[in-house]
Amino acid sequence: MDVTARKSLPDPANKAAFVEAMFDRIAPRYDLLNRICTFNLDQRWRRRAVKLAEIKRHDTVLDLGCGTGDLAEMAAASGARVIGVDPSAGMLSGMKLRGIDARALRADAGCLPLPDNTASVVLSGFALRNFVSIESVFAEITRVLAPGGRIVIIEVDEPTFPPLRWLHDFHFRRIVPAIGRMVSDAEAYRYLPESTVYLPNPREMKTLMERVGWSDIRRIPLFGGVAQILFARRQQSI
Ligand SMILES: C[S@@+](CC[C@H](N)C(=O)[O-])C[C@H]1O[C@@H](n2cnc3c(N)ncnc32)[C@H](O)[C@@H]1O
Repeated sequence: MDVTARKSLPDPANKAAFVEAMFDRIAPRYDLLNRICTFNLDQRWRRRAVKLAEIKRHDTVLDLGCGTGDLAEMAAASGARVIGVDPSAGMLSGMKLRGIDARALRADAGCLPLPDNTASVVLSGFALRNFVSIESVFAEITRVLAPGGRIVIIEVDEPTFPPLRWLHDFHFRRIVPAIGRMVSDAEAYRYLPESTVYLPNPREMKTLMERVGWSDIRRIPLFGGVAQILFARRQQSI
């Protein structure tokens, strides 16, 4: 994965600061851009992810990289206690402005200021490729999640069927940056499609998940493979 060859991607040493500043900038129009660029499918995918997590009133749910709180809002609707974690103050104030019933915790998912076994469910929507180290975040999830807890992650993906792959590529790499440039921030909407290079392929991802002690691992393609849900459970004993 040659991240330095891609102009829109930050120097690896500056990734955390670059990502935080970028999400602060795009926070005010983040929800609008999501709905436009996915034709509102993003909310359908989030609902599916939250349903898979089978959240109950007694659950404590962590939403890692919660942004403006789309997943947190759906999780809170089940009556669970929800903590939205994000380093971007701009995104967290978006969540507060929406009046979502969740605690906002400004922190890095790779180093959570939370005790062991805090949560029974961990959610994360479209945040994985922004983390500096996916391995460290997975290890941290294992620490804060109680044994048997559920993990549900949504991320972008690439369809394998060639015509759909071409169409998706055109939309994601040409149309989305053009809309981003007009409505929000040019640099950010060049970075967001390019940042897929940070994602391990499905085989590597499964290995990472197994290595930190997760089981019942499932990968669910969405809309012909333009996005994916990853489901797992933290093993009872590791
Ligand atoms: C593409 S947005 C997704 C927001 C939201 N989950 C959603 O479904 O729309 C990615 C979010 O991850 C956050 N993020 C980036 N790096 C992070 C980190 N190290 N720890 C926690 N969140 C992070 C960003 O600030 C941003 O709000």
